[in-house]
Amino acid sequence: MAKTNYFQPQIILGIETSCDETAAAVVQKDGERVKILSNIVASSAEIHAKYGGIIPEQAAREQLKSIIPVINEALIQSNLCPPSPKKHLLSSTIYRPAIDAIAVTYGPGLIGSLLVGVETAKTLALVWKKPLIPVNHLLGHFYANWITDTHLPGVKAHLEGVPKFPLIGLLVSGGHTDLVLMKDHGKYEYLGGTRDDAAGEAFDKTARLMGLPYPGGPQISRLAEKGDPSAFKLPRPMMTTDDFDFSFSGLKTAVGNIVKAIDIQNPNSMADLAASVEEAIADVLVKKTITAALKFNIKQIIVAGGVAANKKLRQKLGEEVKTQLSRGDLFFPPPSLCTDNAAYIATSALYHYKPIESLSVQANPGLTLFRK
Ligand code: KG4
Ligand code: ZN
Repeated sequence: MAKTNYFQPQIILGIETSCDETAAAVVQKDGERVKILSNIVASSAEIHAKYGGIIPEQAAREQLKSIIPVINEALIQSNLCPPSPKKHLLSSTIYRPAIDAIAVTYGPGLIGSLLVGVETAKTLALVWKKPLIPVNHLLGHFYANWITDTHLPGVKAHLEGVPKFPLIGLLVSGGHTDLVLMKDHGKYEYLGGTRDDAAGEAFDKTARLMGLPYPGGPQISRLAEKGDPSAFKLPRPMMTTDDFDFSFSGLKTAVGNIVKAIDIQNPNSMADLAASVEEAIADVLVKKTITAALKFNIKQIIVAGGVAANKKLRQKLGEEVKTQLSRGDLFFPPPSLCTDNAAYIATSALYHYKPIESLSVQANPGLTLFRK
């Protein structure tokens, strides 16, 4: 990356409110190490679980309730605050935390949820006179792979160090499935993405058809452990097409038909179906990612997003990297950093700081990876 001669923040407060998680975290950069000083996530997922999906209005209301307590707690736990008073740091206009900048997710996501984080971050940036760094949530997910010290007892993110460019990035979240070729921080080429459902959405929608609560990915994954992945023949659309696009919508049609034909009260059938769904999704993701690495002669792969927590995907991609990429390297964040949190938003900001006017930052619900 080109050397810059302006200020580079080392300690950042991150704020993430793109969907149903309200998150704040403080991270600190020290050379190549990125350490989490605090990482707080409040989720309204339980409220949405019974509806089988997120209710945007409800998610925004929950964001409003949680945002201040969550940021307050992140500042307290970071130990960057004066020893006392530790009750409510944001109530003091004199108090200014020892952070260098504030990072906030500005899109994509639900507009009501995004606005809560963006407007709060703008206000704090003005009051505390700190720079504000807007972060693309999708790009942010990848930066969970640059966190070296997770702040969780016994959990190191990457003992072998941080990813090296160039690399192939696979983003698999609830709303997005994208493949990018990353040449450096802030320099990437979009290779392809899903034409319909995202990988996480495929998990969530098939889980719903199977009568499982939202979010469906962890539910299917748990059930799949006792199932036979070859029990049901499920489609793997676009797996061998000559591009880097994906399509997962056919999977829910196939699962819908199977659900009508089997006894879903039978735990063995459910486990077999879950294992077959997981296998089908993992097969497509692994095949396209390895094909991209081979085509562009890339040795490093990073995976990010909620679905990156999936054990089957981790295992299958690990095996393929070993057999197909000589001296290849594969990075997955620890499972707890795959799903939405503000630690990776702050980490992404460590590498993408540009001086901008805080008030110019606007929530952008339709942001993508190919429109920077
Ligand atoms: O990245 P994320 O937390 O939120 C978005 O930005 O969308 O991803 C949430 C998605 C959900 O679809 C959820 O079902 C899926 O990640 N997910 C999983 C697992 N854990 C979360 N999918 C498969 N296996 C898992 N273990
Ligand atoms: Zn996400």
